[in-house]
Amino acid sequence: MSIRVSLAGATGWAGSALALAISRSSDISLVSAVSRTHAKRNLGDVLGEPLLNCPVYAIAEEALTHPCDVFFEFTKPDVAKSNVLTALQHGAHVVIGTSGLTDADFAEIASAAEKHQKAVLAVGNFAITVVLLQKFAEIAARYIPQWEIIDYASDKKIDAPSGTVRELAHRLSAVRPSELTVPLEQTQGVVETRGARMNDSQVHSIRLPGYTISAEIIFGMPDQKLTLRHDSGSSAEPYVDGALLAIRKVSKLVGLHRGLDNVLDL
Ligand SMILES: NC(=O)c1ccc[n+]([C@@H]2O[C@H](COP(=O)([O-])OP(=O)(O)OC[C@H]3O[C@@H](n4cnc5c(N)ncnc54)[C@H](OP(=O)(O)O)[C@@H]3O)[C@@H](O)[C@H]2O)c1
Repeated sequence: MSIRVSLAGATGWAGSALALAISRSSDISLVSAVSRTHAKRNLGDVLGEPLLNCPVYAIAEEALTHPCDVFFEFTKPDVAKSNVLTALQHGAHVVIGTSGLTDADFAEIASAAEKHQKAVLAVGNFAITVVLLQKFAEIAARYIPQWEIIDYASDKKIDAPSGTVRELAHRLSAVRPSELTVPLEQTQGVVETRGARMNDSQVHSIRLPGYTISAEIIFGMPDQKLTLRHDSGSSAEPYVDGALLAIRKVSKLVGLHRGLDNVLDL
């Protein structure tokens, strides 16, 4: 039996790469898609892929009239939470790729997932190299108490910090808080230049033309530094394999889980 997926954001940069990969897979099928611009069209016609026969709807509520096993959220932060809550009400498991959801959003999603006894797998970055960066950073944080995180992206990225960096800060908070030698309130000058305190990490977001998306974490100890950095290229291909894996595995979970390593044996 193939896994039936409803894909919100199927015509976007990331969603279209995933839709095309699903069309080539033998165990996953797309039953509906969401995009306002291409509503009422066939996704296969929109993406130029004859193998894809899938109706497009303007809103998730309509797309979810087609029964699905997994709802995949790949749109924008302003609609993502409501799409996810709607999907849970319709009895679907959910994979979230969209960035920009806050910890408060995740708390609401977690309680809805528990209430409906469904799984939500939220992944700030589906690339295997990012999953490894997260793991290496968690190990480093066990031994090195001070670090700061830098998030680089193009000037057009509307959310900050990136989903990758939000997830990284969230995960490190489970290891320990990053220590500050000079507390922020004792900073002389402009305290904002020290970045934002998120989940007990200092986070700095840079948005400039010329960047695609990168995440860097610098661990500092007296007279030594460790830098872990991930750079994404311009194609959405690195995310596709991780997204397919999340679709295949999400139904094994219950409740909210953050990070692809929840379905990887690392
Ligand atoms: N987790 C990861 O590994 C990963 C990887 C890549 C991207 N992302 C994140 O995924 C999200 C999408 O990125 P992208 O670059 O693919 O964006 P994009 O190219 O702008 O595509 C957005 C998609 O969502 C649809 N959409 C946007 N607003 C909508 C709304 N209000 N209602 C219904 N559909 C809507 C768009 O179609 P219409 O405009 O026609 O509605 C389009 O299909 C972003 O948050 C990005 O940061 C995450």
